[in-house]
Amino acid sequence: MSHLLVTGGAGFVGANFVHHVLAHTDHRVTVLDKLTYAGNRASLAGLDPTRFTLVEGDINDAPLVDQLVAGTDATIHFAAESHNDNSLTNPRPFVDTNIVGTYTLLEAVRKYDARLHHVSTDEVFGDLELGSPERFTESTPYMPSSPYSSSKAASDMLVRAWVRSFGVRATISNSSNNYGPFQHVEKFIPRQITNVLRGIRPKLYGDGRNVRDWIHVDDHSAAVLAVLERGRVGETYLIGAEGERNNKDVVETILEEMGHPRDAYDRVTDRPGHDLRYAIDSTKLRTELGWQPRFTNFTAGLRATIQWYRDHEPWWAPMKIASELRYAAHELRLDDMTG
Ligand code: NAD
Ligand code: TYD
Repeated sequence: MSHLLVTGGAGFVGANFVHHVLAHTDHRVTVLDKLTYAGNRASLAGLDPTRFTLVEGDINDAPLVDQLVAGTDATIHFAAESHNDNSLTNPRPFVDTNIVGTYTLLEAVRKYDARLHHVSTDEVFGDLELGSPERFTESTPYMPSSPYSSSKAASDMLVRAWVRSFGVRATISNSSNNYGPFQHVEKFIPRQITNVLRGIRPKLYGDGRNVRDWIHVDDHSAAVLAVLERGRVGETYLIGAEGERNNKDVVETILEEMGHPRDAYDRVTDRPGHDLRYAIDSTKLRTELGWQPRFTNFTAGLRATIQWYRDHEPWWAPMKIASELRYAAHELRLDDMTG
């Protein structure tokens, strides 16, 4: 039995990981989370207080991070600013949390010779051509496009340097787009589901041909746990479940599953620098660690996610208005930029 420190555990992917760990292992968990607009105590409500503690704090608070790292057996680092659209409007917090915050954590795990798993994204690789057979692998060169993906790329590079130069015992995973419960309504899938539930038409950026490689968040949690427990220190593992879909298809499927005409959505101004396609080759994770996704039917996973948002309106209602106001301001700025 170990005691895990989970940074960013009140966010979407981190909270799902905490639920997964408490359900499938004997580990204890301490979450360190700043509770930004994206963090939510309600995502961790009702967990067993003998196995779970939430500490509200910043990963840039070095004395606090030192104390928590010293008192636990391993750290799983999810805390980040995570939304591309926000990074285009205000990149500063992405530098502070994703880059400097990761540095602060690395210095603590270096000091206490603690095990670290760093959670990252496939967006560090940039994008692929539509329709090409190419997929990202562990040796694909980094070519990030946005302030978000470049700040994650920088954090991955810091982790690699701390492994090589200081012998820090770290692993890295780069995952494709997650979907499932507890995802903030600013993100593509929950934004469209909650739009439909509120009587607002879904918003598709550009022509909707952009492809994302969707993985259910619970499959991501199982993969992160596998890397933490059985991954080789210093190695990177790509996480993906062969879930390529274009955005237009996803919006149409959501509308159909929710009983609306498939074309009842609006096309809005495209995201500047919008990555075309992500696709993951997860052979290393599957062959070396024996991981397999459980959610292989995307439409069934989406249906369950739609049902979760139907059943949890009190969880998302408070953030919906603020999120749509941010989008309205963002769209005005984009229209201004593009004339
Ligand atoms: P999220 O925005 O839902 O959650 C981020 C969490 O980090 C929030 O709880 C927030 O309060 C916390 N946080 C932010 N700044 C902090 C700080 N300075 N100190 C402490 N806590 C802070 O993000 P997410 O989608 O859950 O992503 C989590 C991690 O997974 C990120 O590192 C992201 O890059 C990675 N990732 C996400 C996806 C995805 O599809 N969501 C895919 C691949 C990788
Ligand atoms: P998002 O959830 O922001 O994830 P990421 O940018 O990390 O891939 O967006 C997923 C895709 O959906 C991306 O191609 C942008 C697109 N998108 C829309 O078409 N409409 C929306 O309202 C949003 C938020 C995203």
